[in-house]
Amino acid sequence: MPSDTESIAGDFDTEQNGLRMAPGAMLDLARRAAELIVERIESLAEEGAWDGEFRQELVDQLLEDPPESGLPALQVIERAARDILPVAARIDHPRFFGFIPSSPTWPGVVADFMAAGYHVNQCTWLTSSGPSQLELVVLEWFRRWVGYPESAGGLLTSGGSAASLDAFVAAREAAGHPSRVTVYMGDQSHSAQVRAARIIGIRPECIRRVASDRRFRLEMESLRRAVDADRAAGFNPIAVCANAGAGSTGAIDPLVEMADYCKVEGLWLHVDAAYGGFAVITERGRELLRGMERADSIGLDAHKWFFQPYEAGCLLVKDATTLETAFRIPHDMLQDTIWGANHPNFSDRGLQLSRSVRALKIWVSVRTFGMDAFRQAVSQGMELAARAEEYIEASPVLEVMNPASLGIVCFRVNPADANPDAGSLQEINRTVLARIFWEDRAFISSTLLHGTFSLRMCIVNYTTTWDDVRETLEAAERFGSEAVSD
Ligand SMILES: Cc1ncc(COP(=O)(O)O)c(C=O)c1O
Repeated sequence: MPSDTESIAGDFDTEQNGLRMAPGAMLDLARRAAELIVERIESLAEEGAWDGEFRQELVDQLLEDPPESGLPALQVIERAARDILPVAARIDHPRFFGFIPSSPTWPGVVADFMAAGYHVNQCTWLTSSGPSQLELVVLEWFRRWVGYPESAGGLLTSGGSAASLDAFVAAREAAGHPSRVTVYMGDQSHSAQVRAARIIGIRPECIRRVASDRRFRLEMESLRRAVDADRAAGFNPIAVCANAGAGSTGAIDPLVEMADYCKVEGLWLHVDAAYGGFAVITERGRELLRGMERADSIGLDAHKWFFQPYEAGCLLVKDATTLETAFRIPHDMLQDTIWGANHPNFSDRGLQLSRSVRALKIWVSVRTFGMDAFRQAVSQGMELAARAEEYIEASPVLEVMNPASLGIVCFRVNPADANPDAGSLQEINRTVLARIFWEDRAFISSTLLHGTFSLRMCIVNYTTTWDDVRETLEAAERFGSEAVSD
């Protein structure tokens, strides 16, 4: 690393070279970027799990005209590393338990850099046969893990939202694109599912939210009643969406019963396994997710519980031809991309034409660490969540609101000896949430469980230890005790 960033600034003579950069300067820049990232990772645990700034402050700092002449590149990236990138939630912090955390492995990060540097456009076989075959390899791994037949196929997507969108399009085409369409999902389904359904043109009132039971799993009887009522009223039900790890609670819908039902009723079953799906690589997870393999399509997010950098979603469909029927649209300008045989063009399987090489990070990190390490890392999340539940159960201050499911546990502060004047439980728990946010290193988030305010912790980061979980729960107890004695 150069001691003085200015000293090599002369290498970046952008005026002379237009947009080119000399090889030595390219390496210096890449090396410095790598150093900055590794330094960040090494000091992460000592810092808070969140940083942020109000809009106007950032406008004042960042809104400036682009310079007419370039600045030294090292200076530019140092500024990004100092003033911009850290002003964000540290989603990979060992004490970030909010929403769905994500902790990428270093080989995965480097692979994304390589994918950007090689700059392959993975739209068709002609433009990217090597990377396309790699995507097929990674999809084959996923296919085997979820237990799909060889007829299955899919593609890597930006995330779970894009996977659901593509799945709904395939479902609609498979149903013959009828009018007056309805789709069904539990009241715990992610807003991403609702948005996907809306984007494909399903009217908001035709997206049926089915009641869930006390453990937040879709109620089969309510689903049956909703579909029957719609058919009687002249609607055309096409698809049902199941949760394999609902975002709020980690709840898993009754996948076997839903698969049986959808088969009899001729409905497409899509499983949203964006959060929970990779639990399937463990024995316990496979048991919990039994029935997922019977779905017509499955959405998975490797950037959640499979330790990849964003963006690494995936859609698998049981019958690969259903995707190609829905998405393959010939275009004169692309006629030369018909090259070779017996291969997919990934742009025929989903929304995107230009695509990056998302498979590389998955392939590089799995080959680097091996499946045993991935399995252990996924298991660790489930074990820590179960241990957190035990701790909450034994606490005089905390109450379990929903037992650990996959890596999520829901709880709240609710001591028996609370001062009746301390405010409502919701107010008290909001205070606890805010104090953890402002005063502790950890970050947790909240949800509504059938309308009741609940704190929740999602524990899926491979760097999180029991001490990280315990000390965060202790902070909740401490802030909770203070809030109820006020
Ligand atoms: C259960 C579930 N489904 C879908 C999504 C949407 O996935 P993405 O953010 O990758 O588009 C999320 C995101 O957190 C999720 O938790």
